[in-house]
Amino acid sequence: MIDPDTLPYYNPAVERKIALITGGNSGIGWYTVLHLYLHGFCVYVCGRNSARVNKAMKGIIAEARRRSADDPKVFMGSLIYLHIDLADLRSVEKAAQTVLKREMKLDVLINNAAVMATPYQVTKDGFEIQLQANYIAHFLLSMRLLPLLQSCHGRLIMLSSVGHNLEFIYWALSQDWNYRPNCIFTWLRYAMAKTASIQFVKMMAIKYPDLLCLSVHPGLVMNTNLFSYWTRLPIVGIFFWMLFQIVGFFFGVSNEEGCLATLKCALSPQLSRDKDNGKYFVTGGREAKPSYIANNLDDAASTWIWTVHQLRDRGHNV
Ligand SMILES: NC(=O)c1ccc[n+]([C@@H]2O[C@H](COP(=O)([O-])OP(=O)(O)OC[C@H]3O[C@@H](n4cnc5c(N)ncnc54)[C@H](OP(=O)(O)O)[C@@H]3O)[C@@H](O)[C@H]2O)c1
Repeated sequence: MIDPDTLPYYNPAVERKIALITGGNSGIGWYTVLHLYLHGFCVYVCGRNSARVNKAMKGIIAEARRRSADDPKVFMGSLIYLHIDLADLRSVEKAAQTVLKREMKLDVLINNAAVMATPYQVTKDGFEIQLQANYIAHFLLSMRLLPLLQSCHGRLIMLSSVGHNLEFIYWALSQDWNYRPNCIFTWLRYAMAKTASIQFVKMMAIKYPDLLCLSVHPGLVMNTNLFSYWTRLPIVGIFFWMLFQIVGFFFGVSNEEGCLATLKCALSPQLSRDKDNGKYFVTGGREAKPSYIANNLDDAASTWIWTVHQLRDRGHNV
């Protein structure tokens, strides 16, 4: 596992480094923000609920102070709350406009937020919720922030998941898997969104070689809110909670360890556009191979074209 201490620290008074992360108020995102802040970044912490994000930012600042007391290499950065609801593409456009107005560059964009294995639901934009929140909204956000990323050869990181392997043959994204039982088909919807996320990174790496674009499986991190739909179900929720705890005990990593692959992708000077673009990193920052489907460039191109057309049909030209 990569040690965050081996990654570069910046002094904001000398060099202003800017990062933007979705879903930074919870789970893996919380620790990602903490380390970026400790490494001197100005971090836009994007979330849909201002109370939750502001509470998280207070907690992160307190934890950073505790960890960095008397550490001469740490010059803490700053945190800025930015409202974004990924289930609403107008909110994504608005958030992107705010950043474009305020900043000249963006060093790191981390598309981290997600929902997992939720019941079938269609957003007001007409997409299945997991596909939109996990993939389409991030596609739009990334395209809007592209000029800022390009102006400094920035890095784009997309949180995927080992769960993408459940897509064992290529499914067109128009396939919405709205079938019963939900407890099976919801995982196929999650897998589809997470495969599309890796394909997006692969296409970005080809289309925009001036950026470094990477995808990540953070590890099995069982104590985040990602599992809360299942653990909060009446009666059976307790069984799911126990199941997830057992899986976590044998195969899991902590919330903080879950952020290490993302941190490596965001900060490591050892990763470069020439040799690493489009790669996939897993638990702790180890390079790995995604599924055959996620790796297939013809499928990635089909996913890209479908997404661009769907966004255009809804008035979002990318
Ligand atoms: N945990 C794991 O074992 C695991 C495994 C593989 C991949 N991952 C990936 O790692 C990433 C982080 O997951 P996590 O485990 O840290 O989950 P988490 O604790 O549930 O965090 C998810 C974040 O996404 C935000 N979010 C969800 N829907 C949103 C929306 N419509 N608009 C804006 N923000 C929204 C949540 O905000 P609220 O607080 O407002 O809900 C939360 O901040 C995800 O991409 C996940 O798929 C996790």
